Amino acid sequence: MLDAASPAVRRTGTDIEKDLSLEIVQVTEAAAIAAGRCMGQGDNNGADQAATDAMRQALNELEISGRIVIGEGERDEAPMLYIGEELGKGGVEVDIAVDPLEGTNLVARGLANSIAVMAVSERGGLVHAPDTYMEKLIVGPAAAGKVDITAPIKTNLAIIAMSMNRDIEDLTIVILDRPRHKNLIDEVRAAGARIRLIGDGDVAAAISSAVRGTAVHGVFGTGGAPEGVLAAAAMKCLGGEIQARFRPRNDDEADRCRKMGIDLDKVYTTNELAPGKSIIFSATGITEGDILHGVRYFGSGCRTYSLVMTLDAGLIRFIDSVVLTDRRTPVQLERF
Ligand code: FBP
Repeated sequence: MLDAASPAVRRTGTDIEKDLSLEIVQVTEAAAIAAGRCMGQGDNNGADQAATDAMRQALNELEISGRIVIGEGERDEAPMLYIGEELGKGGVEVDIAVDPLEGTNLVARGLANSIAVMAVSERGGLVHAPDTYMEKLIVGPAAAGKVDITAPIKTNLAIIAMSMNRDIEDLTIVILDRPRHKNLIDEVRAAGARIRLIGDGDVAAAISSAVRGTAVHGVFGTGGAPEGVLAAAAMKCLGGEIQARFRPRNDDEADRCRKMGIDLDKVYTTNELAPGKSIIFSATGITEGDILHGVRYFGSGCRTYSLVMTLDAGLIRFIDSVVLTDRRTPVQLERF
């Protein structure tokens, strides 16, 4: 007799997950396909605009009453997908976190690991936060529940190493290559771990830290707060962990945080950043990446690679889509 835990039982998750997960992947696909055309063109704004336009259009075609809680900025500074913007044709009420182009510089320069990414939850299922900075400690399932962002760097490295049955010297930690991380980099080096400095893209790095075989064992340092909330949605689905503190860059950002109910002294856990019961996380590769291929274009269409996860259903899907734009030209499909 099959019980609900059996993999043979159809897994649908909550109504939101069941109704929307395959719709949401088409939203990140649309943003990736639009932004991918800008690869290597040196036009950051053009790439971001293309992704944002496509994502917004795709979201507006869905039967949802969607509200952006993590977006491209706030109403006064972002023309589209701003925090508070309402989207969709009407239907189930959901909160939405978006980063239509995570890694603008990466696309503009044709570098690896840019993604179009978003998360959807029931109302209140994703923290509502302004576009500020966040200090993050992100680890995969092995070290989840064991690390502590308030502990010394070396202690956390030792915990990660022990939980992965290895030495600190065997770890690789991803850190954004920024002057603000000089002390952090010095401390990780002094402890003996290896470092991968990245130019941009800490959401893709967060996902890598929760996937064995990527040779990423943690992500440390301060990056975008919106990216932190998206990483929390991904970690919740993957069984990893993020601990984070909001780090506003100035008084104005600190005020905005307080107005949105953010406690600036608090360490936020994965579950506090993404408390939802229904969570859909979708990322589509734009440029080639560690987890996802980038968009590949051919004469009559293109091919995209996405990671779509639903929390309650416990589904982690890699979706390889071929999108035909010219139906008159015969297509010769390749395996992958
Ligand atoms: P964009 O999507 O805006 O290009 O951000 C990329 C990114 O590298 C994030 O991955 C990271 O969290 C943040 O920027 C870091 O911010 P900053 O470049 O200001 O250090």
